[in-house]
Amino acid sequence: MDRTASGETKAGQGTNQRCMEPSCGSVYSLNARIYVCPRCGGPLEVETPLTMLDGAALREQWRQRASSWKPIDRSGVWRFRELLPGDVSAGVVTLFEGNTPLCEAPLCAEYCGLRELRLKNQGSNPTGSFKDTGMTVAVTHAVRLGAAAAVCASTGNTAASLAAYCARARLRCAILVPHGQIASAKLAQSMDYGALLCELEGNFDDCMRVVQEIGDDPSLYIANSINPFRIEGQKTVAYELLEQSEGQVPDHVVVPGGNLGNSSALGKGFRELLSLGLIDHLPRLHVIQAQGAAPFVRVFTECKKRGSSRAQLLPEAMIPESRPQTLATAIRIGAPLSWRKSLRAVLESGGEVIAVTEKEIADAKAMIGRDGIGCEPASATTVAGIRKLTAAGRIQRDEAVVAVLTGHLLKDPEYVANYHRGTLALPGGSAQKIEGAFPNPPERVAATKSAFLELLKRHRP
Ligand code: F0G
Repeated sequence: MDRTASGETKAGQGTNQRCMEPSCGSVYSLNARIYVCPRCGGPLEVETPLTMLDGAALREQWRQRASSWKPIDRSGVWRFRELLPGDVSAGVVTLFEGNTPLCEAPLCAEYCGLRELRLKNQGSNPTGSFKDTGMTVAVTHAVRLGAAAAVCASTGNTAASLAAYCARARLRCAILVPHGQIASAKLAQSMDYGALLCELEGNFDDCMRVVQEIGDDPSLYIANSINPFRIEGQKTVAYELLEQSEGQVPDHVVVPGGNLGNSSALGKGFRELLSLGLIDHLPRLHVIQAQGAAPFVRVFTECKKRGSSRAQLLPEAMIPESRPQTLATAIRIGAPLSWRKSLRAVLESGGEVIAVTEKEIADAKAMIGRDGIGCEPASATTVAGIRKLTAAGRIQRDEAVVAVLTGHLLKDPEYVANYHRGTLALPGGSAQKIEGAFPNPPERVAATKSAFLELLKRHRP
């Protein structure tokens, strides 16, 4: 299953890693184990040689693979291997990631003031989050390079995903998480997959700093989203979304913003589809943050004030949030690393970056549950954000909108139970409870038929 021998495609040959800093643009081989440009410290991107490819032929080939039983074709990431870096003939590390459903969500649509809303359920990936689409490419790359171990900092999902893919690849794995700030289900996953789980005394940004400091050790492979190979896997969600929309690109794609790898990846994916002629315009890419952890909202607002939409006018640095707070622990991040790439993607598509409150996240999450899908709190920022953008006239009622749900409902069951029981307290040790608009607490009932039927009569979903 994993490390599938393929032997049929010489995919991605001729690609490089390139520094995205306009004043630098240095080029490095795919085998250089670097995560930022060694010359200027700028972010790196894998170059995809699109000019040699025929978009229509690719689309047909990808469609055919969807009905193949070969493991490398069953993967919803490697199915698009012509646009992925490296040669797959030596095999890939896959858990059959991707191919996630795009679901109509009528109750959420109504809640947001839209005629229709579709939810891209990335929670149905093998480890329950969107991270798997990137991790299959990163861990395959780590194996190709002969790394001794893979490492990441995480708010929980990157950790679970890296641990699982390393288990499949029999690669050692070490994970740095902030002590006491991770949903227990995510920790349980990393333990079960056999990773070395280090709980650091600090927040996610401290974990990320330590990981960056060890990045110069050539035996260790860093699997955070500063690693451009992660972005390569995650960009395939844009291709899949286009297929599922039968070639009609949505008007708006909305994602949560934490470390900002996901929005960067979707931006790259759509840009490539445009270059291949498979779409004729970019969808507006909107990034939604939690109000207590919203440094990217500030950067974006600053940009808009300057009236800039060109990369040259972007702010040099971002001011981090020193004490990020949100119950959506997956995106409790004060110093997102991929902000430059993400900002480019948002600006070039005409998107927005906004923040939503804890209550807005919690109610939106319950509404996603009512549509029978469910997600973890961070993912619900999307529906909360769409509701705000629609009310502000930035999204029109009849437009095609997709919210990307990044993590599964069961990633954070404590949050869910507390919401429905009315015991969900605001973050930062506050005693103040969030009064949910859609609570659904369990009912105590006597063990008799009549008591049950009486209760059922009164139940109004
Ligand atoms: N949603 C979920 C469920 C996440 O786990 C994350 C990030 C995000 C959204 C934000 O995505 O960072 O690409 O902007 N989780 C990382 C982790 C930080 O370590 O699991 P992003």
